[in-house]
Amino acid sequence: MILTLNVNGRKREISISPDEYLLDVLRKLGYLSVKRGCDTGSCGLCTVLVEEKPVLSCSTLAVRAQGKKITTIEGCQEEAKRFAEFMAAEGAEQCGYCAPGFTLTVLALMKENENPTDEEILHYLNGNLCRCSGYISQLRAIKNFMEAEKR
Ligand code: FES
Ligand code: FES
Repeated sequence: MILTLNVNGRKREISISPDEYLLDVLRKLGYLSVKRGCDTGSCGLCTVLVEEKPVLSCSTLAVRAQGKKITTIEGCQEEAKRFAEFMAAEGAEQCGYCAPGFTLTVLALMKENENPTDEEILHYLNGNLCRCSGYISQLRAIKNFMEAEKR
């Protein structure tokens, strides 16, 4: 079947089989920031935004995204770069493998809730695991970033 997606504002068409997952289709299309970590829906590395909401692409059939607006980190480089500066300032990142999915989830949270509490931030991010750093420094970076983006 032919799948039509809107990825980062660009219409993309690709021939797929009905049992393919969105993660694999996006990688075939060249969006290599979308990574596989666990394949069991537990790590959040494969997170992309579908209609602005975080979705685990490793466990979402690509056909379910037919005609939908998909955002990967390639589509929000400016915001991602700004956020990365706050992460670096807090020493909140090491290998960076979790960064694309983590950053997209933070950007989605910002759109949904401009003034989240610490608990709301931790709850929203609880599906995005990081094997390297402590979550407290990430929490500080998120709060500082969100505050700066309001100005
Ligand atoms: S690859 Fe781990 S949740 Fe998708
Ligand atoms: S910085 Fe290495 S997995 Fe998060």
